Amino acid sequence: MSRIKEEKVTEKLNLGIWRKLFKYLSEFKNSLIFLAFLMVIVAGIDSIMPLLTKYAIDNLVEKHTTETLKTFALVFFSIVAVQAINVKIFIRQAGKIETELAYHIRKMGFKKLQELSFSYYDNSSVGWLMSRMTSDVARLSEVISWGLIDMVWAIVMMIGFIGIMLFYNVKLTLISMCVVPPLFIIGMFFQKKILKAYRSVRKLNSQLTSDFNEEVAGAKTTKTLVREDENLNEFKYDADKMRHSSVRAGIFSALFLPIVISMGSIGTGFAIWFGGNSVMLHGLSYGTFVMFISYTVQFFDPVSQLAGTIAEIQQAQASAERIISLVETKPDIWDKEQVVKIYGDLFNPKKENWEKINGDIEFNNLYFSYKNGEKVFEDFNLKVKKGDTIALVGETGSGKSTIVNLLCRFYEPTSGEILIDGKDYRERSLLWLQSNIGYVLQSPHLFRGTIKDNIKYGKLDATNEEIERAAKLVNAHQFIIENEKGYDLEVGEGGGSLSTGQKQLISFARAIVGNPAIFVLDEATSSIDTENERIIQNAIEKILSDRTSFVVAHRLSTIVSADKILVIKQGKIYESGDHKQLMKMKGYYYKLYTNQRLEEKEMESINAS
Ligand SMILES: Nc1ncnc2c1ncn2[C@@H]1O[C@H](COP(=O)(O)OP(=O)(O)OP(=O)(O)O)[C@@H](O)[C@H]1O
Ligand SMILES: [Mg+2]
Repeated sequence: MSRIKEEKVTEKLNLGIWRKLFKYLSEFKNSLIFLAFLMVIVAGIDSIMPLLTKYAIDNLVEKHTTETLKTFALVFFSIVAVQAINVKIFIRQAGKIETELAYHIRKMGFKKLQELSFSYYDNSSVGWLMSRMTSDVARLSEVISWGLIDMVWAIVMMIGFIGIMLFYNVKLTLISMCVVPPLFIIGMFFQKKILKAYRSVRKLNSQLTSDFNEEVAGAKTTKTLVREDENLNEFKYDADKMRHSSVRAGIFSALFLPIVISMGSIGTGFAIWFGGNSVMLHGLSYGTFVMFISYTVQFFDPVSQLAGTIAEIQQAQASAERIISLVETKPDIWDKEQVVKIYGDLFNPKKENWEKINGDIEFNNLYFSYKNGEKVFEDFNLKVKKGDTIALVGETGSGKSTIVNLLCRFYEPTSGEILIDGKDYRERSLLWLQSNIGYVLQSPHLFRGTIKDNIKYGKLDATNEEIERAAKLVNAHQFIIENEKGYDLEVGEGGGSLSTGQKQLISFARAIVGNPAIFVLDEATSSIDTENERIIQNAIEKILSDRTSFVVAHRLSTIVSADKILVIKQGKIYESGDHKQLMKMKGYYYKLYTNQRLEEKEMESINAS
């Protein structure tokens, strides 16, 4: 099972990161300001409540009169009512902002993931990207909406409390507030410990989830490799660690509140001691005295709240950093500004300016190496005429997939050029090229959804007739209508409910539904039964007939009729010619072909006997 990388967490609060993040969230500025404004009112009202108590004691209780009681009660109830409405509004508002923020950030991330090129996915695992888009986004939107509320509330409360107290008695304020700084420091300490423990619980939780995931996905492989025992041990180890962290988080939480309350009580004690004396000796009113006690008792609330929020923001900073780094990743392959001006971009193509493609292809002095330094081509040259079928054969790792990936501009040449209809393909837009190429990957992937949806991926506005025509052309129509649901059959995640051959036929239909001028087939090595093989063979022949095609073939029967067969060896064209010419040469291709024929004959005789 794979280990999730240890997360690097920046401890210091870094305002730069947050400022950058808010740049991407500028459309939320007004709603966030509104939310903060609401919280100022809520906290303002919260902080004058003890003041009302003071008024009641001094003007009603002390004076033994009920003269103003009615007005007082009225004022009191209206304030409480206003507060109730405020609370309802802010909870709804914060919830709304949280959801919208999450949606906005996910959309931003998703858009970026679509812009990024193949090479980005070489180095980023699905799991990593998934947790960016789920847990990081959730944590951020929560901390921005609810964290803002808590922070504004706590700060306004503290300012309000201190302001009112100072107004009534400076000395008493200073005395009872002397416990606040240590209270804050202790609060921060505990909140950090608690959050850290919870973070570790969360991390282990996602580790366990990913273990589960892998376990389920790889269950069959595990069984064949007899790895059940090892996997179970790894799982137990993580589960134990998770229990340990959970207990730790529990202990810290349990300790935190009593300590904070004790500290707060010390402040209250000071207030009572000095305040009591002042009442007796210096004419401090009873109401003021009670008010002071009530402020000091309540003071620990915003203090611990603020400490908690700051700790949470610090923890969420790592999420913010990761999201920003994702959003700011520059795709390796991108259209130049002049090209975008004419052809439009990925999301707003200007199809009216697109030239019709012809299908001539030329590789010119092509050099290519992968980012990790793996040199694949040095001075590769190839000319392909419109409508020709080029077959690529060769050992594994010789560079066949790389050639077709370069042609589709999933990667770009390190130097040299690829010309389509005589023009460097970087002079036209990515979307133009890729809309004109039908590509069946070495390991075709079907998406969750119906067969129809899956074929439609090749041309989003395809009509039912077009879909059916494509399916018929690739011999998929027959097996599709043989099931009850026909084109509306759910294929299951990754096409799980279809056979390998059926998946392949659907991916053919998807590749040609847009009637592309160029067709690329990176044939899978997996063997298919002879019945299906014949169907697929026939489908391929029909597809290839009137397009410029590149076929990477493992079963040579697929390509005997190709216009040109290239044997690729270590990034070089080792042999080239049509089937007859290559057989005459009695070289690599000849050996490969005769061996395969021999194997096939053996299989046939085994099956026959
Ligand atoms: N994404 C990648 N990053 C780095 N190196 C790569 C990447 N893809 C392929 N390579 C390397 O480039 C070389 C050519 O690989 P390529 O996939 O083109 O081979 P292939 O001929 O298609 O092999 P196969 O028949 O197994 O599909 C290999 O040495 C391979 O290790
Ligand atoms: Mg390959």
